[in-house]
Amino acid sequence: MNDRIGIIMAGGKGTRLYPLTKVVNKHLLPVHDKPMIYYSLSTLIRLGHKTIYLISTKESISLFKKLLGNGKQYNIKLHYKVQYKPKGIAHCFFLLQKEIRNKKTTLILGDNLFISNFENLTSSIHKQGCTLICTTVREPQHYGVVTLKQNKIIKIEEKPKKPTSNLIATGLYFYDEQLTTLIKKLKPSRRGEYEITSLNKIYQKNKQCFHYNLSSADHWYDLGQISDLDDCSTFLKIYQQKRELNIGQLI
Ligand code: DAU
Repeated sequence: MNDRIGIIMAGGKGTRLYPLTKVVNKHLLPVHDKPMIYYSLSTLIRLGHKTIYLISTKESISLFKKLLGNGKQYNIKLHYKVQYKPKGIAHCFFLLQKEIRNKKTTLILGDNLFISNFENLTSSIHKQGCTLICTTVREPQHYGVVTLKQNKIIKIEEKPKKPTSNLIATGLYFYDEQLTTLIKKLKPSRRGEYEITSLNKIYQKNKQCFHYNLSSADHWYDLGQISDLDDCSTFLKIYQQKRELNIGQLI
């Protein structure tokens, strides 16, 4: 993994968490005993990434720099990039075109938290194409929904009204070196964003979109709403106490 470039998306408007996020970036909010951003960053570090780009808004980028520095203390190189407008998750690949050319890339959404066996996960990443980290949920209509046939992805839809599956793509994505060529095919969606699902669909059409399903021993949270923040904080408190673990620790 250490030859892969890691990217964390930590911008956006966070409107679903208003007024909490009116003046504070969502990814700086506390989730149990750490700022939210620690969890996604620690996942990339645990997966072995040595070079990581954090993308956020013009207003917030200096706060992330103050909090996390250049990464030296975590034995990584941490770089920063401003996304001036929330043009979508896949917009990060346009912003980092030069840095990721001819490299393998991992993208994690800054509001996603994973507790998983990272060795198993790492060994399941396909060298070619893209690998989506998937899980089943009760309300798939809020996510990128993945439909399988004979264990192969046949359909990916962003927030469909009538989902055809309970399997969804979490906010952790692994891409091969074709990425900078394939993004040239992307067009902004109706809401004016470069959608991550549109990119994954391009890989799927090329029969190069693979999946790894989290196990029942793994835990995943999308921290986009108040109830998620509450649930996850309570979960972490109990989980850490019971197992004497420190989830999201950076060193
Ligand atoms: O969490 C998994 C889901 O994340 C996937 O299942 C969906 O396919 C994917 O589209 C995404 O859906 P969300 O509705 O959760 O995306 P949201 O707009 O909340 O953005 C996710 C993260 O990306 C959040 O931490 C903010 C950041 N972001 C988002 C946009 C649109 C940016 O940094 N810049 C942006 O322009």
